[in-house]
Amino acid sequence: MSVLLVLLFLSLATVNINEGCIESERQALLMFKHDVTDGANRLSSWSLHHGHGDCCQWDGVVCDNVTAHVLELHLANPRPLLDDYGSDAENEATERSKLRGKVNPSLLNLTHLSYLNLSQNGFGGIPIPEFIGCIESLRHLDLPKAGFGGLVPNQLGNLSSLEYLNLRADIEDNLYATDLQWLSGLSLIEHLDLSDVDLAQASNWLQVLNTLPFLKNLYLSGCQLPQVPPPTHLNLSSLAILDLSLNDIENSLGGSIFHGLSLYSLDSLQFLNLGSNKFQGKLSSAIGNMTSAIDLDLSDNELEGPIPITMGNLCNLKSIVFSELNLNQDVSTILAVLSGCVSNQLDKLDLSGCHLSGQLTNQLRNFKSLKELHLSGNSVSGPIPISIGELSSLRVLELDQNQLKGQLPSSIGKLTNLEILDISTNLLEGVVSETHIGNLPKLKVFQASKNSFVLRVSPDWIPPFELELLGLRSWNVGSMFPLWLHSQKHLRHLDISGSRISDSLPGWLLNLSSPFQYLNLSHNQIHGQIPGIPWAMSVDLVIDLSFNLLSGPLAPISPNVYFLDMSNNNLSGSLSPLLCYKLKETMGTEILNLGGNVLSGGIPDCWLNWQNLLVIKLSNNRLNGSIPSSMGTLQSIVSLHLQKNHLSGEIPLSLNNCTDLILLDAGENELHGSIPRWIGDSLRKLVVLSLRSNKFSGYIPDELCAIGSLQVLDLADNNLIEVYQDV
Ligand SMILES: *[C@@H]1O[C@H](CO)[C@@H](O)[C@H](O)[C@H]1NC(C)=O
Ligand SMILES: *[C@@H]1O[C@H](CO)[C@@H](O)[C@H](O)[C@H]1NC(C)=O
Ligand SMILES: *[C@@H]1O[C@H](CO)[C@@H](O)[C@H](O)[C@H]1NC(C)=O
Ligand SMILES: *[C@@H]1O[C@H](CO)[C@@H](O)[C@H](O)[C@H]1NC(C)=O
Ligand SMILES: *[C@@H]1O[C@H](CO)[C@@H](O)[C@H](O)[C@H]1NC(C)=O
Ligand SMILES: *[C@@H]1O[C@H](CO)[C@@H](O)[C@H](O)[C@H]1NC(C)=O
Ligand SMILES: *[C@@H]1O[C@H](CO)[C@@H](O)[C@H](O)[C@H]1NC(C)=O
Ligand SMILES: *[C@@H]1O[C@H](CO)[C@@H](O)[C@H](O)[C@H]1NC(C)=O
Ligand SMILES: *[C@@H]1O[C@H](CO)[C@@H](O)[C@H](O)[C@H]1NC(C)=O
Ligand SMILES: *[C@@H]1O[C@H](CO)[C@@H](O)[C@H](O)[C@H]1NC(C)=O
Ligand SMILES: *[C@@H]1O[C@H](CO)[C@@H](O)[C@H](O)[C@H]1NC(C)=O
Repeated sequence: MSVLLVLLFLSLATVNINEGCIESERQALLMFKHDVTDGANRLSSWSLHHGHGDCCQWDGVVCDNVTAHVLELHLANPRPLLDDYGSDAENEATERSKLRGKVNPSLLNLTHLSYLNLSQNGFGGIPIPEFIGCIESLRHLDLPKAGFGGLVPNQLGNLSSLEYLNLRADIEDNLYATDLQWLSGLSLIEHLDLSDVDLAQASNWLQVLNTLPFLKNLYLSGCQLPQVPPPTHLNLSSLAILDLSLNDIENSLGGSIFHGLSLYSLDSLQFLNLGSNKFQGKLSSAIGNMTSAIDLDLSDNELEGPIPITMGNLCNLKSIVFSELNLNQDVSTILAVLSGCVSNQLDKLDLSGCHLSGQLTNQLRNFKSLKELHLSGNSVSGPIPISIGELSSLRVLELDQNQLKGQLPSSIGKLTNLEILDISTNLLEGVVSETHIGNLPKLKVFQASKNSFVLRVSPDWIPPFELELLGLRSWNVGSMFPLWLHSQKHLRHLDISGSRISDSLPGWLLNLSSPFQYLNLSHNQIHGQIPGIPWAMSVDLVIDLSFNLLSGPLAPISPNVYFLDMSNNNLSGSLSPLLCYKLKETMGTEILNLGGNVLSGGIPDCWLNWQNLLVIKLSNNRLNGSIPSSMGTLQSIVSLHLQKNHLSGEIPLSLNNCTDLILLDAGENELHGSIPRWIGDSLRKLVVLSLRSNKFSGYIPDELCAIGSLQVLDLADNNLIEVYQDV
């Protein structure tokens, strides 16, 4: 009872005694605020007008409950940095909520500051302020991707109380250090992250790290670490996390990497990432001594198999990422080595691109906790074992690009947690029905292209999933468009090319309200008219409708279409509905293929909006009239195919502006005049020039000899005068 009273009294006392913060610290914070640009008004509570001006109540400020000194500043950008999938609005919001500008040295007056977090702000490439090295009370300094650039100041080495330092950089800010001697001042450091800081000149990195007795977590990914000779004593025995990925390190740590590491007894190591380096040699059996290991990533090195039997002792392993190693081993041997204490709790096994052969065996069923299995790009043969259905935690199953044979086992339908299923490019066959995929509500990616599957689902089937990627290339999906596709509102990638569809193009399919990026319907017998390709949400849209029976006139397309192939159909009428559709925006289209149709009339003068075009194929149509001189405005054009039409007139001089042209084929037309000299003067990158089967006359200009890159020159079947005539 009395203890409780005392506690109650104490807490009342604290509240009563410290109503406001310390004046000099309040001023320091206000000066800090004054020097930053705060687009999202995150520091709006930092104001004297706001309440009673107690800075301990301000957002992101933590004070000592007794002394009222400011202890912590939590000023990280609260909005996540987004990858390419973020919408423009989201990206803008993230940008706006970055603090920018300068960091005022007034922070020095926060004499008890132990925690400073400015991560993911936008300080625009200014150096990390040297004065931070004088905030001696700091224990946590977190500045990742905060927009600081240039040389890391040595003064940080004065922070002798620092336990946590994160300077992870954005490559474009070019943060670098030439000498890491200052690090040895951080004698209490436990967590150090210098990933993507350029350390190419810091040849003492290993020597300095060796002096940090408490270092637990070390991240040096993408640092361009220089090669250094291995020290005889490496004192990293407290390391739990070591990330040296993406550094091009060769075997500098002494002999085969595991031999080397075990010399240095990294007994407590739990997370080891050596991915994307140049380590060579056989995987050593010493790997089995890393008994604390939880997460091993050795991917993308020049290491060789087999996987040592001792790995079966690593009973704490959760993740093995050995992709792109030359294991050269039978997959069933690996399953046998890992069956036992490893297989009981392994979450992730990635052996993609490891030159594995053999067959998957029922030992798979030992891997009950597996959430991810990646075996892409090997030579695994035989059937997919029925026991795969027992891996009920599986979220990702990637078996693509192997030689798997036989049917898809219906037990796949039991993997109700599956999100990604990729079995494309194998030798699988047989019927795929609702039994297989009808009970996979979380499925987002189903890639099964390039097998010989037959799709058989009831016409009114409504799938339980919302797919983002679907690949059914070279299946037999039946003659009609699968109606259930209509229910998939989040599709980004759809490939049902070569899948024996002989239906007309349903309006809803090209109604691209979902964020389509890739649509391949080629090599079917799709007929009917093109409904136009409406305003798509995503940029860089790829649409391939080639090799079908589409007929009727062209239609306008969305300016977001980056690649459009409607070649080898039965499209008729003029190019105008597509090319001349009036838009304010410039078309994003870079590749346009309308070859092999029955398009007729002249090539219209509508190229001004198409300045991004790199490849144009209009070959094999019935186009007539002359080549319009406005085509000379297409200054990025690399490849121009006009062959097999009825084009007449001369080649317009304006084409001499298209100096990046590599291929120019205007063969099999009715062009006349002389072969222009300027081709040799201006189109110096040409590799292929064909003007065959036209009505050109006169001499072949000497200038063509100036095109050093030219490999194919076809001027046959014209009325040219031979230069070296036998008189
Ligand atoms: C201050 O007190 C609050 C509760 O009133 C508590 O949550 C917080 O952890 C304390 N902070 C410090 C630094 O002691
Ligand atoms: C800094 O803030 C970010 C974002 O809120 C957070 O993820 C990170 O853990 C913080 N750093 C430390 C050392 O607490
Ligand atoms: C610290 O505070 C004192 C008193 O308010 C002030 O004179 C001094 O300029 C401040 N120092 C910095 C670096 O802002
Ligand atoms: C801080 O570091 C700099 C450079 O490393 C050094 O010259 C200076 O004496 C140090 N200051 C203190 C207070 O240790
Ligand atoms: C390595 O560091 C430990 C403390 O973490 C210390 O006891 C030991 O003496 C050091 N060994 C060497 C060779 O520096
Ligand atoms: C692995 O550990 C065993 C027992 O601790 C030891 O005898 C052996 O030398 C170690 N192997 C290597 C290669 O370090
Ligand atoms: C569409 O699929 C066909 C094969 O069916 C392939 O040849 C073509 O390259 C694909 N188109 C695109 C743009 O990927
Ligand atoms: C296309 O989508 C819009 C809205 O996203 C809808 O109103 C319209 O009915 C759809 N058209 C077809 C043919 O499905
Ligand atoms: C091509 O389209 C025309 C109509 O534009 C049609 O009469 C003809 O039958 C079509 N040819 C084929 C092979 O589909
Ligand atoms: C081009 O062909 C069309 C018929 O498709 C014809 O009406 C027109 O006169 C032709 N133009 C030229 C310049 O030959
Ligand atoms: C070709 O380039 C020249 C300048 O290099 C420019 O004056 C002319 O307008 C261009 N012609 C066309 C058709 O774009």
